[in-house]
Amino acid sequence: MTMLIRNKWYVASWPKDITREPTSRTILNEMIVVYRLEDGSAVALKDCCPHRNAPLSKGKLIGDSLQCCYHGLEFNAAGQCTKSPGMDQVPAWAKVRQYPLVERNDWVYIWMGVPERADESLIPDVYGRMLDPDWHCVKGEIHVKGGYRLIVDNLLDLSHLAYVHSSTTGNPEVAEEANLGTEVKSQHVRVTRFMKDVVPAATYKHYGNYTENVDRWQVTNYYPPSYILINNGSYAVSDRPETPADFATELGHWGFQVYHAITPATEDTTIDYWCVALERHRLKPKAYEVWREQMINVLREDHEVYEAQQVCIDKGRPENNNDVSTGGALPSDKALIAARLIQRRLYNEEQKQTT
Ligand code: FES
Ligand SMILES: [Fe+2]
Repeated sequence: MTMLIRNKWYVASWPKDITREPTSRTILNEMIVVYRLEDGSAVALKDCCPHRNAPLSKGKLIGDSLQCCYHGLEFNAAGQCTKSPGMDQVPAWAKVRQYPLVERNDWVYIWMGVPERADESLIPDVYGRMLDPDWHCVKGEIHVKGGYRLIVDNLLDLSHLAYVHSSTTGNPEVAEEANLGTEVKSQHVRVTRFMKDVVPAATYKHYGNYTENVDRWQVTNYYPPSYILINNGSYAVSDRPETPADFATELGHWGFQVYHAITPATEDTTIDYWCVALERHRLKPKAYEVWREQMINVLREDHEVYEAQQVCIDKGRPENNNDVSTGGALPSDKALIAARLIQRRLYNEEQKQTT
């Protein structure tokens, strides 16, 4: 069984998708209704009426009150019942759980854990250039029939680009020529992949206008439970500076950044909110459309792998669903195993606190 960690912020939505129309989402196995008040602030309540369990997302907003679709109880943004039709007083039991929400950068975060511990300063800073007007951001969300850790695994082992994304960002050199470095802290894993003097992959050659070999780097940062920031850069070998670039932040002659917020809906279904960011001056408008399509396709290619993995796990090797190592590990698995160990530790700590 996948371990779901509760005392963390998760991305619940893009801000544009929370409106005056109540909508339902499932996060960590809980049904949540989200909507906006008249002043624009976003609200999240448990999507279940305390009366006879009708989903509140099927109700409607009357001003700032959410009216249940079944017998008309009304609730305010704190989840308190404010009206019970035909009664002078509202019943004391008529309360709905309210979840803390924070809108920051271009994501809306929800706190699924103990309410008193909802500290906004714990939101990881992984969104880099998402709102920078000088950067293009291709954004999307994929709904995966697979556990969230499969997506984290993918992003912590970018050797897969050689096989899964061979028509765009990957080529054999990404798997075969990378020099790997992995740093692990208590709540941070960073894996650096540096490829020296290699043939550029198709995307790099095309958009970077390379006519010779390149030095290329990929640095993936992981913050639990499921946030990822990747910095990708490159320069031509003949342009190699005397002092090497800071691979964690610099793009060299051509590169881009990738951000993921990966939210478990259930143990084995996930929503991956993703963004690929590229400086505007690096692409002409027409080229941007092609780039955008390519990035959407890259995510589609990964999506297929996740779902195929989950089928294999469920049908073939269910004992592997929660394993740190699935019968064998390669050197490139070091970072993802470190991430899974962090997840397991955080989960175990939470379980101790609640027992
Ligand atoms: S179920 Fe909501 S008011 Fe009855
Ligand atoms: Fe990928």
